[in-house]
Amino acid sequence: DREQIDVVDDFAYPLPITVICRLMGVPREDEALFQGWTDVIVASADIGPEEDTTERDKAGLQARQEMGRYLVDLAEQRRGRPTGDMLSDFINEPDPALRLTVEELAETTILLFIAGHETTVNLITNGVLTLLRRPEELDRLRREPGLLPRAVEELLRYEPPVHMRERIPLADIDVAGTTIPEGTSVILALASGSRDPKRFHEPDRFDPTRPDNEHFGFGSGIHLCYGAPLARIEAETALGALLPHLGTARLVQDPPPYRQNAMLRGPRHLPIHL
Ligand code: HEM
Repeated sequence: DREQIDVVDDFAYPLPITVICRLMGVPREDEALFQGWTDVIVASADIGPEEDTTERDKAGLQARQEMGRYLVDLAEQRRGRPTGDMLSDFINEPDPALRLTVEELAETTILLFIAGHETTVNLITNGVLTLLRRPEELDRLRREPGLLPRAVEELLRYEPPVHMRERIPLADIDVAGTTIPEGTSVILALASGSRDPKRFHEPDRFDPTRPDNEHFGFGSGIHLCYGAPLARIEAETALGALLPHLGTARLVQDPPPYRQNAMLRGPRHLPIHL
């Protein structure tokens, strides 16, 4: 019922936390705690060029520890009393070889919260931004919502939430005639690979009907994103729910303000007029 909303704060930001809380079995009344913790952890990963980040780093670490303690305590309450959620499954794993230690349980569950939060927020927000910049594509999706899954794939290629990752080779490796020495830091420019003109026809064009769209939006190889199926469902559901309301919507600010983060790309806010 409002004329103007912030797609990030009012819509995209709360969704992935709510979803992962429900999957983990966090009681609804505690979801706000997770909003607070992820906020602080994600902010601590942003890079301010001239800023002193000591305080932010400290706050991020503290939030991680509090979140870990909460999740381990909640899992402990479910030991021997399964409740059908992920935390309960982790703690009641019958095979000792597969059972997680307390540290592994904390790290794994924190990772599931962090890896799937900002990324999914950015995919939804980048999606709204891309479509509002292209009214003809927005109209087409509104007429043919069946195209949405392919539009989400194209967003992951064209405007990906994760731009780069780092690898450190364990031995000298040869890549296209160049030797990368063991132990050096290698930046994988995933977003650039997804716009490689040798691989993609007209790579700088957003085309929701693009055939053979094998992008690097979720990485590749053994570290391929394991939340990808969930992220796809969340983005399709969120954009699908918003599409009917975007007929006369327009961007209030273009470009919107972005997070200062070399790895994750997405607007910090996206005000739109409905
Ligand atoms: C649009 C949303 C998402 C994007 C763009 C994304 C992107 C990525 C990328 C690029 C990687 C590869 C990292 C690397 O190679 O170093 C990755 C890994 C990972 N993602 Fe996602 N992700 C998303 C959502 C999620 C969700 C919802 C979850 C879980 C709930 C998740 C959990 C993970 C985990 C655990 C890994 C590490 C896998 C490994 O190292 O074996 N992600 N993600």
